[in-house]
Amino acid sequence: MKILVVGGGGREHALVWKIAQSNKVSQIFCAPGNAGIASMATCVPIDAGDIDGLLHFALENEIDLTVVGPEDPLTAGIVDRFSEHELKIFGPNKAAAEIEGSKKFCKELMKKYKIPTGDYASFDNPDDAVEYIYNHGAPIVVKANGLAAGKGVIVARTVEEAESAVYTIMKKKAFGEAGDTIIIEEFLDGEEASFLVFTDGDIVIPMVTSQDHKPIFDGDQGPNTGGMGAYSPAPVITDGLFRRIMNDIMIPTVKGMSAEGRKYRGILYAGLMIKEGIPRVLEFNARFGDPETQPILMRLKSDIVPILEACISGHLAKAMVTWDENPSVCVVMASGGYPGKYEKGKIITGLDDAAELEQVMVFHAGTTSNNGQVVTNGGRVLGVTAIDASIPAAIDRCYQAVKLISWPGVQYRTDIGKKALKRL
Ligand code: AMP
Ligand code: GLY
Repeated sequence: MKILVVGGGGREHALVWKIAQSNKVSQIFCAPGNAGIASMATCVPIDAGDIDGLLHFALENEIDLTVVGPEDPLTAGIVDRFSEHELKIFGPNKAAAEIEGSKKFCKELMKKYKIPTGDYASFDNPDDAVEYIYNHGAPIVVKANGLAAGKGVIVARTVEEAESAVYTIMKKKAFGEAGDTIIIEEFLDGEEASFLVFTDGDIVIPMVTSQDHKPIFDGDQGPNTGGMGAYSPAPVITDGLFRRIMNDIMIPTVKGMSAEGRKYRGILYAGLMIKEGIPRVLEFNARFGDPETQPILMRLKSDIVPILEACISGHLAKAMVTWDENPSVCVVMASGGYPGKYEKGKIITGLDDAAELEQVMVFHAGTTSNNGQVVTNGGRVLGVTAIDASIPAAIDRCYQAVKLISWPGVQYRTDIGKKALKRL
């Protein structure tokens, strides 16, 4: 089979790495890819958002299966477009991807199907939103309705902060049209975890659990990022909680989407807040998580390609999905200044030494090649991922690799996985 992976981050490198292990696969393309992906796939310079360009490429090259990494092409309808041309593509169609593309739709769905989540209200008018904020008090959460590259959520500690978030989103249009509507949501505290499932619209097969680390600094300090590290499994999700999440959240959501005439095929990813053993949904994503995919796929023992095909064809009940018992940990190495302004083009050293370590994969995110050298090309640069017999051993192995790699200004958290240790 010829496969096309859409995207160019750490998640896509992990997907390409896993897909390359399938004996069903003869050739892999990745658009646009990165320097690490280039060692396993043919990178093609088409942006992940250029649906016409991707469609043209897939038709021209007779691609047998396209796997979409990021959310934007999904919510823009890439699956619908490819399907019209009878091209096989993995992911939800436009109507189903709205679960991530519109927070208002997602909240209304959860309310209708009694999926546990925080109270909320939605507004098209900033004055009404501000009045609601003053009536409810802080802390309170302000969210742009549409996609905002992970930046459209403001967890406000004071009403003034929430008010200013409303103005930034609705009046200054910081996220463009994504902020025409806003959601104001009850602040939920607790511990976050990520729960991802494969689904063909009927059958729901859970992946192993994971936990992201969103804030930039150790101890969850500083601004939120795309994710600074992840590990799997997340011991905050006990066996009992796992069953509850499947029965009260994942299965009813997939059923609810079908009942709405938006049959959901692909990955459904719930961002959860867990407090005193009770899970509540912060958001749904219509895709694999980044960086959660890196440790999760390192634990997937089965061939991923038949699983992806079964989600598309509706035969997921027959798919084989088995997992490695050993935990895995991913530490993201980022450019200095990220998630604010950062420089690009720094030469990365130590990649060859890290590659020698066993049970370690260095997944690339923002990297590119320049005169034969690998240089930084984004905020999140690498996702160093290790697997070992226990979480502490996987953490040690991971940081052993991290310490071999460097570039001017590199930053990473030194406490990835620590929350798990408290629960072991
Ligand atoms: P979201 O994109 O909706 O997952 O939000 C991004 C991040 O903001 C989450 O991972 C949480 O850390 C935080 N967040 C979102 N909604 C809430 C909420 N209702 N209460 C507390 N924190 C939240
Ligand atoms: N790890 C957060 C996300 O993929 O949205």
